[in-house]
Amino acid sequence: MNFKEQLKTYQDIINKELAKKCNQNKCPEEQLNKSMEYSLLAGGKRLRPILVIATYKLFKSDYKECMPYAIAIEMVHNFSLIHDDLPGIDNDDFRHGMLTNHKKFNEATAILAGDGLLNNAYMVISQDLKNTSTQKNAESTEKVQNINLKLKVFEEFTKAVDRMIAGEYIDTEVEGKEISPNELEYIHKNKTGALLKLCVRMGAILANASEKDIESLSNYAEKIGLAFQIKDDILSEEGDEKKLGKPVGNDKARKKCTYVSQYGLNGAKQKLQELTNKAIEDIKEYGTKAEFLKELALYIANRNK
Ligand code: IPE
Ligand code: IPE
Ligand code: MG
Ligand code: MG
Repeated sequence: MNFKEQLKTYQDIINKELAKKCNQNKCPEEQLNKSMEYSLLAGGKRLRPILVIATYKLFKSDYKECMPYAIAIEMVHNFSLIHDDLPGIDNDDFRHGMLTNHKKFNEATAILAGDGLLNNAYMVISQDLKNTSTQKNAESTEKVQNINLKLKVFEEFTKAVDRMIAGEYIDTEVEGKEISPNELEYIHKNKTGALLKLCVRMGAILANASEKDIESLSNYAEKIGLAFQIKDDILSEEGDEKKLGKPVGNDKARKKCTYVSQYGLNGAKQKLQELTNKAIEDIKEYGTKAEFLKELALYIANRNK
């Protein structure tokens, strides 16, 4: 399977799992559930869950084991997008080629849909922890090891979400102001990098990878995390709105501090290229086993949506 086919296969698997988590029951809050489903199934690239699975598969093949964490992180991601688009933050009307959640429903519903998705992520994880601790056919030492790995992942999960929120906060606070390159890097590393790094670490930790492997992969993840947001900044400047499914030029209009405003379009592209090359260097030791992760780094740099 080539990279594109593998990507599509992963996306299909994740979309099916996410659909299973949507509550379609008739109930008084049906509209809220619909708005959560609207954003969750809107057609994101699913890069975060794919990173979890692809990293896990470097070490182990039974990737269903990491699925709850892959799903949970995509729920948090979609919560962050719904709130990011709100009038109080970026005030955007389109995402994934569709109306943003607050435009399709209303502001109150969008706020609560975001809250709901964030909490659903924790519900998915707590259910998995419970399933693991009550598993009947597992040996007790294996069970204890699995629970310990999952608790470590859970702790990292909560901290990464904390960082994402912090990054979003500062990003919003400094809108329209001059900031230093260090401050800009801090924003990007937190608002976007933290969750992407978490994905790679979750995959490695859940697969019981060695400390050395976790470190090499974290180095890779830090670089693709920053690269990802730099590319987002570049696409906001010169992307094709139709392909992107979200507005182009909105960062500039809102006087956002981005890698493009800080370093110019060519400067941002150069940083993106450097980070991508270095990220690929970080996983060289895995050879062809890490071919997909290498292609993913290139995809992040070259994507048009
Ligand atoms: C967009 O993320 C927001 C950022 C963190 C830059 P993605 O581009 O991964 O979003 P979707 O889910 O694929 O649309
Ligand atoms: C979104 O950042 C980051 C998070 C939601 C955490 P942006 O505001 O730069 O992303 P887009 O361009 O709206 O997707
Ligand atoms: Mg934003
Ligand atoms: Mg935005």
